[in-house]
Amino acid sequence: MQRTGETSPESVGINKVWYLKRINIFEGMDEDSVRQLEPYLQHRRYEPREMIFLPGDRGDKVYFLKEGVVKLARLSPSGKETTLALLERGEIFGEMSFLDGLPRETFAQAMERVLVCIARAQDFQRFVDGKPGLGLRISMSMGERVRDLEQQIENLVFRDVPGRLASTILRLAKRHGTVEHPQGEMIDLRLTHQEIANLIGATRESASINIGRLRSEGLIEIDRHRFVIRDRQGLEEMLDAF
Ligand code: CMP
Repeated sequence: MQRTGETSPESVGINKVWYLKRINIFEGMDEDSVRQLEPYLQHRRYEPREMIFLPGDRGDKVYFLKEGVVKLARLSPSGKETTLALLERGEIFGEMSFLDGLPRETFAQAMERVLVCIARAQDFQRFVDGKPGLGLRISMSMGERVRDLEQQIENLVFRDVPGRLASTILRLAKRHGTVEHPQGEMIDLRLTHQEIANLIGATRESASINIGRLRSEGLIEIDRHRFVIRDRQGLEEMLDAF
């Protein structure tokens, strides 16, 4: 896996504080407090599919996602990929290695064009130490991730592939939101069948078959690689089946 990308502050925005205030762990903080982090930030752009960090990398940086979608995933020794999360604008990532001091075990990849702010872990640590309440907000954001992972484990243990697919579509809709579409509500996230397979713990073939099945049952549609939920209740009923 190759990693490229350049630092280009001029091309990626002038007002860093404007972006920072939209990072969810900073919500509600006053502008002067957020501004104190600004001198320590580097801006960087990643092109679609570009690697942001790799397993084994030192966890000496923390990332704030300004634009785009980032995939966090793991590779098995045989090369099988499991997607842990797809992050959207406003989320922090790379904070776990900074908290436990261990190398990264997960890779982060840009799914589309991505803009991030990067802080060195030690600078971010000093910033957090001086801000009462911020540590708690970071813990809360990690708590949400744990809940999300709990749901994924439940999916893998208790549900068959169609059930996992239905549950994952509903989870993506909740986490990423939906936009109106002539056939229902669309999750504005471009995913290939392989990427869906990596999210639900199935082979690409099985993911494709089950996407076809949910389509033919009128529960979902696919529009330009995006899920359209046609019958939310029908998907929810599939979850009651286990
Ligand atoms: P770190 O371990 O430093 O590097 C990988 C990052 O991926 C990790 O910090 C978290 O920020 C992020 N991450 C790992 N698992 C999840 C998850 N399930 N949901 C959201 N983010 C995650």
